[in-house]
Amino acid sequence: MDKVKVGIIGAGNISELHVQGYKKLPNVELVAVCDLDKEKAEEYAAKHDIPNIFTDYNEMLKMEELDAVSVTTWNNSHAPISIAAMKAGKNVLCEKPLAMNADEAQKMVDTSKETNKLLMVGFVRRFEKNANYIKETIENDELGNVYYAKTGYMRKWGNPGGWFCDKKRSGGGPVIDLGVHVIDLISYLTGKPKAVSVMASTFEHLGLKPYIKGISKYNAKDYDKDNPFCDVEDSATALIKYDNGMTLSIETSWVLHTKEDNNYLMLYGDKAGVKMEPELEFYKEHNDYFVEERPIVKEETDKFSAIFQRETAHFIDCIVNNTECRNPGEDGVAIMKILDAIYESAKSGHEVIL
Ligand SMILES: NC(=O)c1ccc[n+]([C@@H]2O[C@H](COP(=O)([O-])OP(=O)(O)OC[C@H]3O[C@@H](n4cnc5c(N)ncnc54)[C@H](O)[C@@H]3O)[C@@H](O)[C@H]2O)c1
Repeated sequence: MDKVKVGIIGAGNISELHVQGYKKLPNVELVAVCDLDKEKAEEYAAKHDIPNIFTDYNEMLKMEELDAVSVTTWNNSHAPISIAAMKAGKNVLCEKPLAMNADEAQKMVDTSKETNKLLMVGFVRRFEKNANYIKETIENDELGNVYYAKTGYMRKWGNPGGWFCDKKRSGGGPVIDLGVHVIDLISYLTGKPKAVSVMASTFEHLGLKPYIKGISKYNAKDYDKDNPFCDVEDSATALIKYDNGMTLSIETSWVLHTKEDNNYLMLYGDKAGVKMEPELEFYKEHNDYFVEERPIVKEETDKFSAIFQRETAHFIDCIVNNTECRNPGEDGVAIMKILDAIYESAKSGHEVIL
């Protein structure tokens, strides 16, 4: 294979980071872009010097020279597009969440097996340096048995609006948008134990609050301040138990009457504990003292771009060198099962056994 010829499906915000990543790879050529919005696709193609423009991904997938695609569309089209792409012989890097639910996600994995095409899920936080440091530490058994994990991905006022809060297109709110990242990260760090039960609550009390002044937030491209439709949860909490005895407590919000945004991730083992966020810190014992340890792990100044760079580089490496994929589609299915269970438990008021 000469250069890997890549297409982008969904010319929105996050696709820019995929493109930045691909552009840094000498063995990649960006050959096509597709977006439902023709004008947007044209602007995007001009900006990134991409020769072929489409508004229908089925047409784009007819391009024989196309080897791979990034699927960076709304969540409701991840499964149909990825399945069509693999059936057309293309390798797929699909953004998180892998699909709207576990059934769809499983069909994607089945297609990957049938077609022998790569399905990689965009769990980009697995490419953070801190995550790798912690993973190595756990693999060296320095935390011992990790029996409790705690994470929060909390925004005070951060509902992006638009498609993000239209359940038909997103599948849900902060659980499927933010919770997915940290639930996956904890699973990845702790050796992918299987979730066995979920007890959860979701809350729908605050909505978008489009009238708020004084602070700013990120808005989806199709956010319309005058039409603040929202039919997804604005916050959630869940207790997830795993087959290795670990319990994870997670909370997430887009809008919450709280002081400020708050992101944290902690793992507690019988030998030591670690805090990954807000900063990397270990808690252990030494000479009968409790000690704290802060490893020097410097993330790049633009950490967000750097992790996408490593993600796209890994995707291409898997295609070119047949390297084992760090983020296989199967992991996306496992996380979708947990997300489905969170919504089911919140609806029924009961624990869901997986
Ligand atoms: N990994 C991360 O940290 C991260 C961050 C943000 C978003 N995401 C994910 O990336 C995806 C896109 O999010 P975004 O913020 O870029 O959204 P966005 O609204 O900025 O862009 C989505 C684009 O997809 C296009 N689109 C939708 N359906 C399409 C279809 N069937 N065919 C062609 N184009 C289609 C839309 O017109 C839009 O331009 C979502 O799944 C989101 O969860 C991941």
